[in-house]
Amino acid sequence: MDRSSRKVLVTGGSRGLGFAIAKRLSEDGAQVVICGRDQSKLDLAVAELLSRSAFAHGIVADLSRRADVDMLFDRTLELLGGLDCLIVNSGHAPYGTIETLSDRDWDQSYEMLLMSAVRLSRAAARLMKASDLGGDIVYLTTTGVHEATDHRLVSNVMRAGIAIVAKHLADSLSGSGVRVNVVAPGYFDTGRVRRRIEDLMVNEGLDRPSATGRVATANPLGRIGAADELAELVAFIVGDRARYLNGTTITIDGGSSRLVT
Ligand SMILES: NC(=O)c1ccc[n+]([C@@H]2O[C@H](COP(=O)([O-])OP(=O)(O)OC[C@H]3O[C@@H](n4cnc5c(N)ncnc54)[C@H](OP(=O)(O)O)[C@@H]3O)[C@@H](O)[C@H]2O)c1
Repeated sequence: MDRSSRKVLVTGGSRGLGFAIAKRLSEDGAQVVICGRDQSKLDLAVAELLSRSAFAHGIVADLSRRADVDMLFDRTLELLGGLDCLIVNSGHAPYGTIETLSDRDWDQSYEMLLMSAVRLSRAAARLMKASDLGGDIVYLTTTGVHEATDHRLVSNVMRAGIAIVAKHLADSLSGSGVRVNVVAPGYFDTGRVRRRIEDLMVNEGLDRPSATGRVATANPLGRIGAADELAELVAFIVGDRARYLNGTTITIDGGSSRLVT
């Protein structure tokens, strides 16, 4: 397949890891649609994508709302005239334990993290299966699918579900040329992690390297990841050089998780 004009949807692509992936795929010439809840952030992101590729578009959609998820998929098809590659990424689930998380926290996280992934990838899989071009579906999850950290309980539960959906989909799309994979990140310098570093700087008077070092505890590389490093992995996964890679989860965390996979 000619990857230079691929039609790609990156959900949650206005900032952070999603944006880094959208940028990296745009550099290869992909036509990219991104989504997020904030039009102004989407506009900024799209402007940067357009400096790399001939086509980029942002759609305001809240992944925790089913109607928005359906609208996002339909509108993406209208804009791109098809879909070769779906990158499923989203926002953060609330921190908390079984004691502190409310039913509302669970319900919202279920909709935003798990059901949006199910609905989008089901629609994409149908479409890709019906075409003879194949395609790629990549889910972003977390190393928490391997290591059950207490405070990320709800995120880990939903992400474990996504890993199962991915495995199921890889099997059920057998013979269609569609590959389905999962990327499980450790700590990256985006979103909530960046805010945590900045909080440590303000509240504990640490400089940035020390605050980052605190977050990167027990990371053999001694630092957290840069979003571009994760984007490079995703570009490889959806590229032709990874054509035998399917139905798997790749951890990218600088070596910090203790599980041998
Ligand atoms: N960064 C890490 O270290 C790390 C590690 C493991 C897993 N992850 C997971 O990777 C994903 C991305 O993380 P990140 O650090 O890149 O986050 P981020 O910098 O906060 O970016 C999140 C992106 O998703 C969008 N978004 C958030 N909630 C949304 C919603 N309900 N509907 C639609 N779009 C939404 C945001 O735009 P708007 O806010 O404008 O909607 C933004 O574009 C998250 O699910 C996170 O849990 C991150």
